Amino acid sequence: MIPTCAAQTPADATSDDDFSSDVLKGMARTPKRVPSKYFYDARGSQLFEQICEQPEYYLTRTELGILESNVADIAAALGPHALLVEYGSGSGIKTRLLLDALDEPVGYVPVEISPSALDASVENLAEEFPDIDMLPVTADFTQPVDLPSPDETARRTVVFFPGSTLGNFEQAEAISLLRTMCIEMGRNGAAIVGIDLKKDNAILEAAYNDAAGVTRDFTLNLLTRINRELDADFDLGQFDHRAHYNALAGRIETHIVSRKDQTVRIGECKVDFARDEAMLVEYSCKYSQEDFAAMAAKAGLRVVRTWMDSNHWFAVQMLERA
Ligand code: AVI
Repeated sequence: MIPTCAAQTPADATSDDDFSSDVLKGMARTPKRVPSKYFYDARGSQLFEQICEQPEYYLTRTELGILESNVADIAAALGPHALLVEYGSGSGIKTRLLLDALDEPVGYVPVEISPSALDASVENLAEEFPDIDMLPVTADFTQPVDLPSPDETARRTVVFFPGSTLGNFEQAEAISLLRTMCIEMGRNGAAIVGIDLKKDNAILEAAYNDAAGVTRDFTLNLLTRINRELDADFDLGQFDHRAHYNALAGRIETHIVSRKDQTVRIGECKVDFARDEAMLVEYSCKYSQEDFAAMAAKAGLRVVRTWMDSNHWFAVQMLERA
């Protein structure tokens, strides 16, 4: 019998204790689930950087290749004097490429919930781009944000959301995020969004099951984080990583699977796991161009340009208001 810890959650959890509240609520769901945004503590962020270098994880290098080959065309399509707003803290090399190619961008606004990640990214970029106003915003980009105004008036606002991070949101959330983008970019604005495309199942599954086991470590690090921050006692040796492509839903579904019947303590709660029970920790959605255009349309946006690699594995899409 699973003690209903989640029943205690609303009373126990304060609004600034989202992690505890989300984990305990997630333990009471069937299947159990923990939101993938909690992967990214310091160690998780490091492991994600390593995933991006694994031979099987084609997403990062493919998107980078598309940006490198087409950045002049992308910059021309966006036009001069843009205010570049990035969801997440500057994704390093991709941000630099775009800032470097844009014609006299007036400002750069990374929107990121973690102040330390935000500071680090802006510090480096400010040195490299002394003429661009750096205007970091500490906020959750899934919620509407009041954008700061650069010294020089922008001709248009451009939202940059690379990496297929949109794919980590369920369809309804992804549409809502695209709607937020649509509002934030304003009437004359644009967005540049990277999305991973549907392809052979084996290629997709290999990307989330790298031979070196980095993705497994990344997934299981979530348990380490729960142990440390929520005073839990997950035994990492008794759980496995499983990433499987659900072709019907068009997404990689990542689970943490219990190797045996076991009871885990999380703070004051006890949570039972059955042998082979799978806890959902991430969706990574894969799109066709039509899927994406339909989602964008639901958010009041239309695809005006698409740049792809020669295999058509990944797409960089430019959106404007419909
Ligand atoms: C950040 N995000 C787009 C990655 C993805 O591909 O879904 C996170 C990731 N999870 C496992 N490998 C990479």
